[in-house]
Amino acid sequence: MEEYGETLRNIDVLREKRKAVILAHNYQRPEIQDIADFTGDSLGLAREAAAVEAEVIVFCGVHFMAETSAIVNPGKVTLLPEPQAGCPLADTITPEGLRTLKKLHPQAVVVTYVNSTAAVKAESDYCCTSGNAVEVVRAIDAPEIIFTPDRNLGLYVQRMTGRDLIIWEGCCPIHDAITVEMVRELRELHPGALVVAHPECRPEVVALADAVSSTSGMFRVVKDHPGEEFIILTEAGMGHPLRKRFPGRRFHFPIQEPLCPDMKLITLEKVERSLAEMQPRVTVPEDVRERALRAVERMLSIG
Ligand code: 13P
Repeated sequence: MEEYGETLRNIDVLREKRKAVILAHNYQRPEIQDIADFTGDSLGLAREAAAVEAEVIVFCGVHFMAETSAIVNPGKVTLLPEPQAGCPLADTITPEGLRTLKKLHPQAVVVTYVNSTAAVKAESDYCCTSGNAVEVVRAIDAPEIIFTPDRNLGLYVQRMTGRDLIIWEGCCPIHDAITVEMVRELRELHPGALVVAHPECRPEVVALADAVSSTSGMFRVVKDHPGEEFIILTEAGMGHPLRKRFPGRRFHFPIQEPLCPDMKLITLEKVERSLAEMQPRVTVPEDVRERALRAVERMLSIG
C-alpha cells in the first residue's frame, strides 16, 4: 500500500470529515477492500447499509448495490465512486419486461435477485441474494413463484427447494463463462482440493462442486474444512480476502481468471475524489424507493 500513501492519508482525513463509512464488495480491488470499514457479500452489505449510523456511505461495488444502500437509507448520502460500474446481469431485465411476465402469471409471487435495478425491485414482492435465495423461496407460500433475473441461481434454488419456479433468462457473463472443462482441468491439477462454487455458475458446474455458497459463505466453507487446498469458482477478486484470512491455505481459480470489469472500475483515487466532491451520488425516486424497500425489507426480515 506504500505507493498509495498520500491518497490513503487523504481518504482517512476526508472519511473523518464527512463522517463517512466505506463499504466494499468481496470482488473489489485489494487496495479498496483494505481501506473499507466493512467488506462482504451482497447480503452482508445490504444489512450493513441498513444499520450504519454514518451520514455518508461510500459504496465500493456496482450500481445496484449502491442503489440498495440508497433504498434503505433515504436520509443519507450514498456515493458510488464510479457511476459507470454497472452489472450486465441486472441489465437483462426491465420493469416493463417483469410487468409483462406478471400479467401472464397473476397469482405469482415475484422473487428478485438483488442484482437488479431499483425499478425492477419495485415490481417485486421479495428480494434475495445468493446468500439467502433458498431461505427466501422456502419462506413463501404461493401457488406460483417468478424468480428473476438470474437463470443459474433460479435453477439452483429450484433444485434445493423442490419448488417449480418461473425463471427469467438472465445470467452473469463472468460466472456463466466458467465451464465443466475448466473445473475438470483444475481438479486434475489439484486433486485433493475442495471445489466451492458460486450459485451464479451454470448448473452443470454447480453439480461438480463440493460446496455452493455466496462469496462471504465461502469464508465459512473454508474455515470449516480441514483441507488446505480449494478450487474457487467465482470472480477472482475473492482471492484477496480468502488469502488474507487464511494465509496457510491455497486457493485456485480457473486459469482464465473470471474478472468482472465493472467491479474493478473503482480505484482509490476515485474514492478520494468522491469524498472530496461528495459526488457521484446514487438516488432513487421516492415512489420507486418505497416499493423497492418493501421487497428489500421482506428479504432482510428472513433469517
Ligand atoms: P455475493 O452476494 O455472493 O457476494 O454475489 C454478488 C454478485 O454479484 C455475484 O456476481
